[in-house]
Amino acid sequence: MKNHFEYDLEEEEPVTFVKIKPGRRERAAQNTSLRRKKPQPKTSYESSPDVQRWLSEQAYDEMERTRPAFNPSLVASRRDAPWILSSLMPFYDQQLITDVLHEAHGGKEATVFCCAAHPSTGMEYLAAKIYRPRMFRSLRNDAIYRFSRVQRDEEGQAEHGNKRRGSAATRKTERGRAAQVASWIEYEYLTQRMLYEHDADVPQTFAYIGNAVLMEYIGGFEEPAPRLSDVELAEDEAQPLFDCIMHNIEQALSLGRIHGDLSAYNILYGQGEVRLIDFAQAVDPYHNSDVYSLLQRDIERTCHYFACYDLRADARALAHAMWVRHMGPLPDFA
Ligand SMILES: Nc1ncnc2c1ncn2[C@@H]1O[C@H](COP(=O)(O)OP(=O)(O)O)[C@@H](O)[C@H]1O
Ligand SMILES: [Mg+2]
Repeated sequence: MKNHFEYDLEEEEPVTFVKIKPGRRERAAQNTSLRRKKPQPKTSYESSPDVQRWLSEQAYDEMERTRPAFNPSLVASRRDAPWILSSLMPFYDQQLITDVLHEAHGGKEATVFCCAAHPSTGMEYLAAKIYRPRMFRSLRNDAIYRFSRVQRDEEGQAEHGNKRRGSAATRKTERGRAAQVASWIEYEYLTQRMLYEHDADVPQTFAYIGNAVLMEYIGGFEEPAPRLSDVELAEDEAQPLFDCIMHNIEQALSLGRIHGDLSAYNILYGQGEVRLIDFAQAVDPYHNSDVYSLLQRDIERTCHYFACYDLRADARALAHAMWVRHMGPLPDFA
């Protein structure tokens, strides 16, 4: 920390008096300038800008010192602690989370942690979804997904159009892969944020960094809300929930998004309501109309789940009608 006091003292010019007695003309000039000048209010040493700056810097340092280091005990004991800590640290530094409470889900590609939310977020808990670094190797590379969203190149510049040629982002360099994964996660975050802002039933988003997304936590302290695949619905719940999910699919399509991996595994259920999650494979139908098959599959899987509640629906007809309402005629190959 630079000490402004020392700096000022060192830089001070020695004062030398050359003339003791000013001449008549100088005395007259001094008198007029004194008369013209407004009297300056006396300022205390403490109120000088340098002192004020130094004081506020000290206060900030003090705050940093009293803030405990981010080392959640839940993570510290894990073998993979280093990358988990470095993934979550930015959320702690930005005062979005204060602690990591438990692992809500551990998967092959991503782990979801339930975190204690910083009071400034207005939430009690937040869910941090962190992608494993090995994702950088095993990125899902299906052409239909890759060509249906904006990719970023090594410099982070968006690449537009249905590019079939390997670009910087799709070339197999480490930097290219990293750019691709970061772009993938950013797309998941931006899709979910846009849907939330349009009142869709998705968790609110808070932040994202290279390999992690921070969002509203759905569920209680002990356990996350169950997935739709894990619950048995009451008879009278099925129809309104089916309608709600179809409404969400249609709303997303109207905003230029298809979930692309929707099923009862990617829908959380709590207190009679559903929340759609996991937009990692979302695609933009305006970018590439080949994705009609993904819309159809999302609807088929939804219908399939509700079929065991005696809810009969023609998934293909629903997908067709929905596409025509928002995108126009079906693509030739559909
Ligand atoms: N916002 C959330 N709140 C609570 N639990 C969540 C949340 N997001 C994900 N989970 C939990 O983590 C699991 C995996 O999340 P998901 O986004 O589907 O990732 P994956 O790519 O591993 O399928 C979910 O099934 C759910 O149990
Ligand atoms: Mg999932």
